[in-house]
Amino acid sequence: MDFATRIATWQQRHGRHDLPWQNTRDPYRIWLSEIMLQQTQVSTVIPYYQRFLERFPDLRALAAADQEDVMPYWAGLGYYARARNLHRCAQEIVRDWSGRFPPDAAAIATLPGIGRSTAAAIAAFAYGERSPIMDGNVKRVFARHFGIAGDPARRETEIRLWGLADAQLADGAGHEVDMGAYTQGLMDLGATLCVRGRPSCDRCPVAETCIARREGRQAELPTPKTRKASPERRTGMLVLQHEGRILLQRRPSPGIWGGLWSLPEFDAALDAASACRELGATPAAIFELAAFAHTFTHFRLHVRPWYVVLAQAPDMAGKPWQWVDAAGSAAVALPAPVRKLIDGLFADGLPEDLMAPAA
Ligand code: ADE
Repeated sequence: MDFATRIATWQQRHGRHDLPWQNTRDPYRIWLSEIMLQQTQVSTVIPYYQRFLERFPDLRALAAADQEDVMPYWAGLGYYARARNLHRCAQEIVRDWSGRFPPDAAAIATLPGIGRSTAAAIAAFAYGERSPIMDGNVKRVFARHFGIAGDPARRETEIRLWGLADAQLADGAGHEVDMGAYTQGLMDLGATLCVRGRPSCDRCPVAETCIARREGRQAELPTPKTRKASPERRTGMLVLQHEGRILLQRRPSPGIWGGLWSLPEFDAALDAASACRELGATPAAIFELAAFAHTFTHFRLHVRPWYVVLAQAPDMAGKPWQWVDAAGSAAVALPAPVRKLIDGLFADGLPEDLMAPAA
């Protein structure tokens, strides 16, 4: 049996079959799942996926919404450009494709934020198209099975891996293969057996032909990335409270947390009192909160948060700012670490009675 057939047969017997985006051929649902699953684990995605579909059950519902209405359904998932692109895609499909999802991987890959592998996965699941995928997990499977050394993120390694992916579906190979099962099988193998740490080669359907296994090189392949130290950034953050409400600012997009609401930030070298002055806010009391760090793909952000009770609230009407009820901010699209900070701070009502002022 060839490689593709062994993977597909294994998937049908031993792979995952009950994920909420399986057992449908609706490209909208499949597309949404593939975008959410980029960089995010299955268990994290499932509740977001379900909530999103309840609110936006089809492409037209999503296209008709404002981006502002979409962001709360993504808040906490991270990589917010995905949500902005998703919404742009929906509008583009309505405008340029009369609301019908594009019919093949090549057309899908022209949409904003959809790369070759994601387009191929959608086309394989929705249309059964014979188009190969090559995401992070699948790169590991291929690098091991075909003995491909070199950082898989490097262009020349990628070209070799894509060439091998194509070859498994070329004339004669994987001829009768069920593309949905093959594609899901590669993902399942990468997620469950051919894992980074200690792969379960004894249960692998392609172990017999695997070069890494034959040569005992599972730990060396794929070649680890040469990691550069990630840069560090610092910011001050203000929880400005007045009469039980706090001030939020809409983050500009593109940019970190773009399109979400967040707490006002200021130069970490400044103190909270001068940051308040710059905003036209008059503090009655200032409390320093516990610092924390948040890791993004390309840098680490060190946050120094302050809780400020205001004597007087600045007027933010007409600006991308809003005052929200401190204890009732649940419906607002906040980044996960900001949500945690606010929920922790107001869990037992207003916190100033429990804290000693910093100044
Ligand atoms: N990761 C990316 N696509 C996936 C899928 N269809 N099922 C499980 N994990 C995935």
